[in-house]
Amino acid sequence: MEVDQVTNVMEFEAIAKKKLPKMIYEYYASGAEDEWTLKENRSAFSRILFRPRILIDVTNIDMSTTILGLKVSMPIMIAPTAMQKMAHPEGEFAIARAASSASTIMTLSSWGNSSIEEVASTGPGLRFFQLYVYKDRNVVINLVKRAEKAGYKAIALTVDTPRLGRREADFKNRFNMPPHLTLKNFEGMDIGKFDKNADSGLTKYVAGLVDRSLSWKDIAWLKTITHLPILVKGVVTAEDAKIAVQTGASGIIVSNHGARQLDYVPATIMALEEVVQAVQGKIPVFLDGGVRRGTDVFKALALGASGIFVGRPIIWSLAADGEAGVSKALQSLREEFELTMALSGCRSLKEIMRRHVAAPWDRAQITPRL
Ligand code: FNR
Ligand code: LAC
Repeated sequence: MEVDQVTNVMEFEAIAKKKLPKMIYEYYASGAEDEWTLKENRSAFSRILFRPRILIDVTNIDMSTTILGLKVSMPIMIAPTAMQKMAHPEGEFAIARAASSASTIMTLSSWGNSSIEEVASTGPGLRFFQLYVYKDRNVVINLVKRAEKAGYKAIALTVDTPRLGRREADFKNRFNMPPHLTLKNFEGMDIGKFDKNADSGLTKYVAGLVDRSLSWKDIAWLKTITHLPILVKGVVTAEDAKIAVQTGASGIIVSNHGARQLDYVPATIMALEEVVQAVQGKIPVFLDGGVRRGTDVFKALALGASGIFVGRPIIWSLAADGEAGVSKALQSLREEFELTMALSGCRSLKEIMRRHVAAPWDRAQITPRL
């Protein structure tokens, strides 16, 4: 298939797979161990059905919203994914420009092949910075201060990665970064490359440098070094959602890291509602994991999410066609979501109600036979 024939974001993957070296394709594509959660992140969406309302004037559909007070054109945002120049020479730059053109938010990974400042220099745009906490807290202070200075609007603190999940393809391929690339944020710091002799360069990097003692008290510490809102990325239970609220988080991202960390955690769309109920509207709840269709976006919002983030489809569209590919992926999700709203009888995001979907765990009176 050619790029101009692509009609949904999933179709970018086959093009990317053909273009990319096996080691790189498999790093992006992999989930942990048996990849049960990887499949479940998708298949759980298919068990949630619609209860559309009819005969509502849907001439005008407004998908715009505010995320942490920031105006965006749609509740579809870009998740942080590491090392985007392995997919395309323009990597993070292409994604930043496409996000800005679409008036949505890009989250830059700590482990980009482009730095905080380089991405900011691509031009205006709303950006979040994803933070990995190093044992050496001076590294963390350095990153956070730079993100603040460069105008990033929030810190997405990843909390599901005290160690890297077991991605077996990376071991088989002896995954490493191509030698012309670095983790650009760490230039001059001697922590911008992986060990070439490791089974997986990334696994060894995480084991050596990431702070596995990270705990709730560190969120309080983070709040002493930055005024930026902190989103806790990687919550999948009501218990942790409650602690996140108590700790002063500004939002929660229900995420299982694209099924790359602990296998056999539920699909994020299955965990979303328990988190939403625990949070009681005190802070916004977001979701990532397996979102591939506008219908998925609608389902997440109906179950209480304020917005969603997309990971792999952005990488695949980047690999397929650079900035134009990413723009096309965002446009495709936007159009599908708009159509879903129209066909459900919803003219604005606040009209999307819980009763517009039926989940397998719903009580009989609103559940069709599933
Ligand atoms: C990720 N993810 C991730 N998360 C994070 O906090 N920091 C990171 O650097 C990365 N890097 C990364 C690389 C790749 C290749 C993937 C696939 C994922 C997780 C990411 O932010 C998000 O949680 C998932 O990608 C969402 O799932 P989908 O949309 O890929 O199914
Ligand atoms: C990954 C890390 C970088 O999932 O977050 O590969």
